[in-house]
Amino acid sequence: MNLSRRGFLGALGLTALGASSLGALVLPSSAGSTGQLLRSAARPPEPFAVPLPIPPVTEPVRADATGDYYRIVQRKAEVEILPGLRTPMLTYDGVFPGPTVISRRGRRTVVRHRNELPVPTAVHLHGGHTPADSDGYPTDLVLPAGGWDHTGHARHGDVERGVRQYVYPCDQRAATLWYHDHRMDFTGPQVYRGLAGFHLVTDEEDDALPLPTGERDIPLMIVDRAFEEDGSLRYPSLDPDLRSVPGVEEDFAEGVLGDVILVNGAPWPVLDVDAARYRLRVLNASNARRYLLRLEPAADLIQVGSDGGLLERPVRHGELLVAPGERFDLVVDFSRFRPGTELTLHNGLDTGRTADVMRFRVVRRATDDTEVPAVLSSIERVDPAQAVRTRQWRFARAHTGDHHAWLINDAPFAADRADGEVALGEVEIWRFTSDLHHPVHVHLDPFQVVSRRGKEPGPYDAGWKDTIDIGPADYVDVAVRFTDYPGRYLVHCHNLEHEDMALMAAFDVR
Ligand code: C2O
Ligand code: CU
Ligand code: CU
Repeated sequence: MNLSRRGFLGALGLTALGASSLGALVLPSSAGSTGQLLRSAARPPEPFAVPLPIPPVTEPVRADATGDYYRIVQRKAEVEILPGLRTPMLTYDGVFPGPTVISRRGRRTVVRHRNELPVPTAVHLHGGHTPADSDGYPTDLVLPAGGWDHTGHARHGDVERGVRQYVYPCDQRAATLWYHDHRMDFTGPQVYRGLAGFHLVTDEEDDALPLPTGERDIPLMIVDRAFEEDGSLRYPSLDPDLRSVPGVEEDFAEGVLGDVILVNGAPWPVLDVDAARYRLRVLNASNARRYLLRLEPAADLIQVGSDGGLLERPVRHGELLVAPGERFDLVVDFSRFRPGTELTLHNGLDTGRTADVMRFRVVRRATDDTEVPAVLSSIERVDPAQAVRTRQWRFARAHTGDHHAWLINDAPFAADRADGEVALGEVEIWRFTSDLHHPVHVHLDPFQVVSRRGKEPGPYDAGWKDTIDIGPADYVDVAVRFTDYPGRYLVHCHNLEHEDMALMAAFDVR
């Protein structure tokens, strides 16, 4: 460990831990995920018994020449997740996942959120190319309409009471985006309790492709959760009311892993499918869990899109690694299977119940005129040779006596400090280095992966990415270029427990 770094951290009351000293402290409880397993007190339900729900699509309350206007109410609701039990949740419009918003490329989408929850919120459109004042900066809080007498972070940001209007230009490629809570210090528990939904952008290019659509275009939000005996969610918050004390019990500082897998809010659901091609929009909205997805019996997962929309060419995967925050747009061809065949989506990183995700049951023959074209789109390359600099973002753990914290470039997040300044339109290489598994996410614009450990990008790195899975003691170079909207944005770890323990940094775009 280098002494000046230790000196700097010492002044903050923190001690950095080199990657080499981590081994003894990390008790891997789940292969392939950084986190600790939280067991349910409730008996886990039978797998493959509940039909896969499809989140409702929200309709605009009005539309005019310039855009579409939506309203979402953030409120408490009791949702049936485990058969026969009620789970109190924090929701968008009373449902989990929240209602799906569908925007047409270039149509301004205005979403008015009203906060009827007992806690402050901030809404972020993950993957959105969004001006800073609508990006859901963690201190730009929407305070509860019913009142809030705690000061805390309400002092720092652009705070509104009760209602906030988010304006999304949606001037971006068709892609599978999602929106979720981003409240300073409390994102982990608030997303865990239900504040997440899909936001799809469509465009002419995507529509023109012969890919599956309609009932054969299915969003899949995968999360893991733990439950109390009465059906309520179990989460190790230090302050279960989420009022003022952030963070989780020390054992869970690496991340919270649940023992029940939900897809679109249902435990280990089953979807009846035609013997035809399906488009599956996979989102890992888990706080900390990673998934290595594969079908059994085996079927190719043909990737047609990434976080930032269509790939240039499809990529065939036998198995697919999905880190928190990432999206993969897949086509699966069920026509190869006889009606009656059941295909289980497994997580190869796990054993036992959490090794299962959901099931597809082929129920009937069907006609299908879809195909996966050899060329899907064209992607402008962000040329690394034009980079004006290489900027390092080092993600690592530190601890303060008996409290864990996470640091980027040796510093914890401070909402009022930018840790970098980037000029609009300039290409930079960002090098992310990590000690453990960190899914790193960048706001404002997607990036392109240049190399992993100085070598070729990995099998899951194609296309435009906004979140990237980085392994223990690893580094990845990506080419970034920010466009259109100056302001303060975030780069952070999307393991939400890490994020809440300060594993974020701000950068200013000018
Ligand atoms: Cu999906 Cu800044 O987060
Ligand atoms: Cu984001
Ligand atoms: Cu992390």
